[in-house]
Amino acid sequence: MSIPFSIPCVAFFGRTFDEYMRMFAIDEAFLRGKRVLDCPSGPDGFVAESAARGLDVIGCDPMFNLEPEAAHARAKKDIEETLAVAIGNADSPRFRDPDAFARTKYEALARFITDYAAGRGTRYVAASLPTLPFADRRFDLVLASHFLFCYADVREGGMMTGSPFDLDFHLRSIEEIARVCAGEMRFVPTHGMQQPPQRHPFLQSAIERLHALGFNTRLQPSTYDDGFLPLVDVLVATRS
Ligand SMILES: C[S@@+](CC[C@H](N)C(=O)[O-])C[C@H]1O[C@@H](n2cnc3c(N)ncnc32)[C@H](O)[C@@H]1O
Repeated sequence: MSIPFSIPCVAFFGRTFDEYMRMFAIDEAFLRGKRVLDCPSGPDGFVAESAARGLDVIGCDPMFNLEPEAAHARAKKDIEETLAVAIGNADSPRFRDPDAFARTKYEALARFITDYAAGRGTRYVAASLPTLPFADRRFDLVLASHFLFCYADVREGGMMTGSPFDLDFHLRSIEEIARVCAGEMRFVPTHGMQQPPQRHPFLQSAIERLHALGFNTRLQPSTYDDGFLPLVDVLVATRS
């Protein structure tokens, strides 16, 4: 088994609308008519592009307390630093295509920055798990990517050294996301950062908590691959 890749803090970058479709195994028709929460959103292109298409999507992220210029600078720094780590780990089976990885992050950031100032406080809401500033069952669909599971400690299947995001944090966050969800939640990734990929060590506890909260769960295949972390499947939880 190779030495796990690790970074010291949560990276503030996001993904494009098309990447969201592939990550979550959904399409635009699936989103239409639904009240959607992107949690956390990061500086992604998904919220901006959804607004342009007339979809009802809100993104939340702790970094949305930043002014546009500061958010842009922080995202640029985080992409550059992650890319440097990627290039430094070029022999890792995880980093097959660092350039493709960076290209889509910059594309998403460019789309985000065209929309962030106009949408701040409405479709971009500052919020930090495990507490969300939304009413019970406010959303029909919640999409949760690349924060939960990813940023657990390296020793617990994640990629963060000294992570504060332990199992208890994950379960409280999942419970909070469930509180604001009237219909369905989708979570990625479901696998840990080790090679070869294995089910994330928190996944089974997360599924059990979702069942206790009254959700049915299934794992649906995902074809997403950004040159770093190819997804295997999506955890789909639906209110029963
Ligand atoms: C790599 S980004 C993922 C963004 C996007 N969903 C995607 O898949 O590209 C991780 C995000 O988690 C956010 N984050 C950090 N701490 C958080 C917390 N306690 N609650 C919610 N989001 C958090 C960061 O600000 C960052 O934007």
